[in-house]
Amino acid sequence: MTDKKLNKISAPKGVPDYVPPASAQFIAVRDTFAHHIRLAGYEHIELPIFEDTTLFARGVGESTDVVSKEMYTFADRGGRSVTLRPEGTAGVMRAVIEHNLDRGQLPVKLGYYGPFFRYERPQAGRYRQLQQVGVEAIGVDDPTLDAEVIALADRCFSSIGLKDYRLELTSLGDATCRPAYREKLQEFLLKLPLDDATRHRAEINPLRVLDDKRPEVQELTADAPLMLDYLSPQAREHFEAVTGCLDDLGVTYVINPRMVRGLDYYTKTCFEFVHDGLGAQSGIGGGGRYDGLMAQLGGQELSGIGFGLGVDRALLALEAEHTQVADPARVDVYGVALGAPAKRRLLTLINELRAAGIRADMSYGDRGLKGAMKGADRAGARFALVLGDRELDAGIVAVKNLVDHTQTDVPLGQVAETLGHHVRGQ
Ligand code: HAM
Repeated sequence: MTDKKLNKISAPKGVPDYVPPASAQFIAVRDTFAHHIRLAGYEHIELPIFEDTTLFARGVGESTDVVSKEMYTFADRGGRSVTLRPEGTAGVMRAVIEHNLDRGQLPVKLGYYGPFFRYERPQAGRYRQLQQVGVEAIGVDDPTLDAEVIALADRCFSSIGLKDYRLELTSLGDATCRPAYREKLQEFLLKLPLDDATRHRAEINPLRVLDDKRPEVQELTADAPLMLDYLSPQAREHFEAVTGCLDDLGVTYVINPRMVRGLDYYTKTCFEFVHDGLGAQSGIGGGGRYDGLMAQLGGQELSGIGFGLGVDRALLALEAEHTQVADPARVDVYGVALGAPAKRRLLTLINELRAAGIRADMSYGDRGLKGAMKGADRAGARFALVLGDRELDAGIVAVKNLVDHTQTDVPLGQVAETLGHHVRGQ
C-alpha cells in the first residue's frame, strides 16, 4: 500500500462527455431526430464502430482531409488495418451490398446514429468523437427523394426548436458534366499565383480550393467558374426538380454555388444546414446524393442520397438560442420515508409508480425530512410522497404538490392512479 495519490485521468483531448443535466438534452435531441426519421419510413441500421481501412479510403476518397489526415487507423492484433468510422455513409453502403439489401424493394431507407471519429484540431464544436444521426435512401435516382431527405433534415432541426439556421443548396453535377467542369476550374486555378500547398490541392482536388477560407485565396478565386453554370441538361433538370419540390414543401433554402463538402462521393444535389450562432464550426448537418459510391465499393450501379446531422452542434445551437428540448426534471415524483418500516413500504410504492409509467425516485440513506425534501427539489419532482409511521398505520401517504404547495392524503393503493392524471405523458 502506498499513500501517494494517483493522478486523475481526463477524457482524451477533443472528446466530449455528456453528463447530467446536459445528457438529458443530448438524448432528447438524438431521440427526436430518430423519431422523425422513423416517421418517414427509415429502418434502423446498427453499424460497426470500426471497419476495414480500405472501405473509407475507397469510399470517402484518398484526397479528402478526412481520409488523408483525420482517420484513427491502427493495426489490430491480427495485423489487419482497421479504422474507427469517420462517417456513416460508406459503412451503410458496405452493409447494403454485403446483405443484398439492394436486391429487394427500392429505395432502401436506413437510419443510424452514434459516435464517429475524426482526428481534427479540437475547438468549440469540433470534436474528435462526434455524434451524428443519419439516413441513407439507396437505389432510386429521383429528385422527389432528394427533396424528402432535405425536408426531413429540416423537420429534425425545427422539431427540436431551432430557428436561426438556414439551408444551403447546390448541385455538384453528374458524370457527364463534372469532369469537364473540373478541368475548366483546374485550368483557371493553375493560372493563379497560388502558394505551393494550394497549387498542389488545385492539382489533386480543385473543388476544395473554392472552400479555402483565407481572404486572399477567396479574392483570387472570386471569378472562378462555378459548377452550377456548367450543369448538363439532365443534372440541371434534376436540380430544378429538387428546388421545385422544396418550394412545394415550404422548405426555404439559399443556393450556394461555392459549397464544397469534405467527402468525395457527392454528385448532383448537395446541401448543408448552417447555424450562425456557432462561430467557425457552423455546419449543423449536411448531405447529398452519391451516384458512384455503391459501384465504387463493389456493388451495383445504384445512386443514393442521405444526410448526417451533428448532434453535438445541434446542442450548441440550442444553447446559442437559449432553448431546451428536454424537461430538465429527473423525475416527477420523489418519495421520502421517515423510519425503517415506512422506507420498506415506500420502496414497493415507488416501484408500483414506475410500473405505471410514472418517473419516480426516493430518498435513500438516513436523511432527515429536510435533507430528503432537498433531494426532491434537486430531482425536479412535482410531487413528494411523505410516508411516516402515522401514514403507514392509516394506510395512506401524504402527497405534497411542490408547485402549488398543497398537500393531500391519498390511500396507498390509489397513488399511481391519482398521480397518473397529473404527471406529463399520462
Ligand atoms: P459531414 O458533413 O462530414 O457529412 O458531417 C455531418 C455533420 O456532422 C456536420 O454537418 C457536423 O454537424 C457534424 N460533424 C462533422 N465533423 C464534426 C466534428 N469534428 N465535431 C462535431 N461535429 C461534427 C457526413 O458525415 C456524411 N456521411 C453525411 C451524409 C450522409 N451524406 C450522405 N449521406
